[in-house]
Amino acid sequence: MIIAVDGPTASGKGTIARALAARFGLPHLDTGLLYRAVGRQVALAGGDADSPADALAATAFADSLLADPELRSEATGGLASRVSVHPGVRAALYQRQRAFATQPGGAVLDGRDIGTVIAPEAEVKLFITASLPARAERRYLEMRASGRAADRATIAAELAARDARDRERAEAPFVAAADAVELDTSALAREAAIAAAIALVERIMRPR
Ligand code: C5P
Repeated sequence: MIIAVDGPTASGKGTIARALAARFGLPHLDTGLLYRAVGRQVALAGGDADSPADALAATAFADSLLADPELRSEATGGLASRVSVHPGVRAALYQRQRAFATQPGGAVLDGRDIGTVIAPEAEVKLFITASLPARAERRYLEMRASGRAADRATIAAELAARDARDRERAEAPFVAAADAVELDTSALAREAAIAAAIALVERIMRPR
């Protein structure tokens, strides 16, 4: 079974994808981390995230970079969003994601284009949403908890800019698959969001 979990930043898609993987005994890939690694690698190499050539060169990042805590910062999220508009970057990361999705037994992948591009054949497609204020508040609390300086208005503006860039890009724009089931987590605490996602998967997989 392939479970595709798409959604914007801080919608809860990562938490939900990890929980679904644990619940259904499937391996999980956070595909945003791959784009974040490319963004970070561009910065480390002194390149320009908006340059297709610099961004493409950065797709050869060392796997050890995936453990860099800086990958989780909003600055790296912004770089990831800038490198992810380049078709060459998306093509370079495609095989790795596709191979993960099609491994025997299935997998859970979360990202922006899993249900539309990476695994359009997925049996389960969830589209996780949450309002901008709810997502900014979550990110604010997360940053404060990890001891980083944070300001709600700045975070909301950064998230909105990243959403717009992801939705408006020409290649694999961020959009719900026509057959995706939407789950709005704005008013749901972590455990309630996980329970709702598990219930949706069980409903979709129930034999008719
Ligand atoms: O999900 P996360 O915030 O880690 O993703 C970082 C950025 O990577 C996104 O804003 C998006 O531009 C890009 N991305 C993508 N396709 C994916 C996953 C992430 O374009 N499947």
